[in-house]
Amino acid sequence: MKELLESIYKRRSVRTYSKEKLSSEEYAAAEEYLHQLKPLIPELQVEFQIVPCSETNCKFNAEYCLLVYSTEGNLWLTNVGYMLEQWDLKLASMGIGVCWYGMGKVEEERQCDLVYAIMLSFGKCDPELFRNGDYDFNRKSASDFWTGASDLRIAEIARLAPSAVNSQPWRVEQVDNKFNVYRKKGGVPLLSAQLYKRWNKVDMGIFLCFVDVALESEGYTFSRTLGTDSDEGKRALVATYTITRQSA
Ligand SMILES: Cc1cc2nc3c(=O)[nH]c(=O)nc-3n(C[C@H](O)[C@H](O)[C@H](O)COP(=O)(O)O)c2cc1C
Repeated sequence: MKELLESIYKRRSVRTYSKEKLSSEEYAAAEEYLHQLKPLIPELQVEFQIVPCSETNCKFNAEYCLLVYSTEGNLWLTNVGYMLEQWDLKLASMGIGVCWYGMGKVEEERQCDLVYAIMLSFGKCDPELFRNGDYDFNRKSASDFWTGASDLRIAEIARLAPSAVNSQPWRVEQVDNKFNVYRKKGGVPLLSAQLYKRWNKVDMGIFLCFVDVALESEGYTFSRTLGTDSDEGKRALVATYTITRQSA
């Protein structure tokens, strides 16, 4: 995953697309990469459908939308976030604009064992829209969400992760070489609480993707155990990482 590091400083939610269409090579490469995404939970089945954006309720002028379906299970939306963030980053590296679209709706929520998870718009865009370094982000500072960090570079990379309405629901507590990643709940208007509950589970997968890219690119090896996406309590323990070795 460390090959995705550069894209972390480049990606941005692209909501304005150009009229130009993807070349057949670009389309094929974007589709092909869907089959290379690393899952967080291999037991979950995840399927994709690419449709013209105009056939969805997405309000952007993108050429396409990617519809994501998955089997349900503990952390299934987090798995979707983890996988599709790799795709978001890869497409940014190819100069293709992407935006997660939580407001997306489909007519058929269920397709056999699979349930609709989320959609992402994508298409050609002005290259100027992409970021050009780590200064153009509106994010919490690392110390606001990561306590006890032994290597601030990991937190500095992970803090750049995108999230629904930029809510940044992640909290990390580290002691020595072990850290817990939590999803913080609440703090949002009651009416949208249901939506946040869903989106923030996707956000956590996006965050874990950024953490993994950061750890790998900083030369760490690690093991990770997964927790829960339970809605009980004020926070959910999503993952525990143990950094096992730092390569020279
Ligand atoms: C799960 C998820 C759902 C999102 N849904 C929408 C959406 O429905 N509409 C929209 O304009 N942006 C949406 N976004 C984009 C976020 O607003 C954006 O990622 C965040 O503000 C950070 O900005 P950046 O992606 O440009 O770094 C979504 C992002 C995520 C991760």
